[in-house]
Amino acid sequence: MKHLLDINSLNNEQILEIMNLASRFELLGFVPKLLNKKPTVAFLFFENSTRTKFSFELAAKNLNYNTLDFNFNTSSLSKGEDFFDTLNNLSAIGADIIVVRSSDDFIYEYSKKKYPYRLSFVNAGSGVGSHPTQALLDFYTIQKHLGSVYNKKIVIVGDIKHSRVAKSNIELLNRVGAKVVCVAPKCFQDENIKNVQFEEDLFLNTQNADVVMALRIQKERIEEEIDYLEYIENYQINEGNFNTDAILMHPGPVNWGVELSKELQFAKCSKIILEQAHNGTFVRMAILNLIVKGIYGSHC
Ligand code: CP
Repeated sequence: MKHLLDINSLNNEQILEIMNLASRFELLGFVPKLLNKKPTVAFLFFENSTRTKFSFELAAKNLNYNTLDFNFNTSSLSKGEDFFDTLNNLSAIGADIIVVRSSDDFIYEYSKKKYPYRLSFVNAGSGVGSHPTQALLDFYTIQKHLGSVYNKKIVIVGDIKHSRVAKSNIELLNRVGAKVVCVAPKCFQDENIKNVQFEEDLFLNTQNADVVMALRIQKERIEEEIDYLEYIENYQINEGNFNTDAILMHPGPVNWGVELSKELQFAKCSKIILEQAHNGTFVRMAILNLIVKGIYGSHC
């Protein structure tokens, strides 16, 4: 595996390998093998993050890799340096893997360029399009609770249109045979997503769900005024309007009182939301380790 750009670029064997390796890291920890060079991971986050950035950083440290934290304001990008030059120099200094979060899809363009040394890219969330590592950790979490996801009904609720998490989850969960249904008001549906059923009624569609995945309204990507009261009335998930035997998930950050009721913050059924964050470290360890295996031919 050279890069991890999106779910579609992964084959089924790679997905299985990531799941198995993450499980091994969770159960057995990490036993490093000696490499000729200590791998170096640089984090270029142009959008804010808590879960993705820190779990990637912890994943790299657990694997005994060097980490470089790139900050736009203190970097020479702020002095006008070209982004390609920045990557060339990071590669020359010794970075092996660039973990990128950005508000657009530039990771695709830059991953195709040639660098003085080999450089791998990992998508940590790009625009409204994809967040593959979140989908992989969600899949890992669902599997831990349900065993197989085959034929399971997974209901994704909320702002599908602006959610990169939803798009990557739809790609991955469809691939592994889940029945994915998106529940959203018309303004948050997306006609460009062809391989999923859109519904408008929250209550009807969550009653027999195996998983209910709520999403944050991506207000930073929406220009029109949002009618929060109407949204809350029709789409807020509370203990009374979904099957509480279902697994309740949310990629975070949660706006309690909007997509999930304030009461749910302290409810037993919400504990899996933190499990998602917890599992993220193992899944990201697996991804970094598989890329390093591709670079150095070594493995844990
Ligand atoms: N789920 C997720 O991407 O969270 P962060 O924005 O905090 O990384």
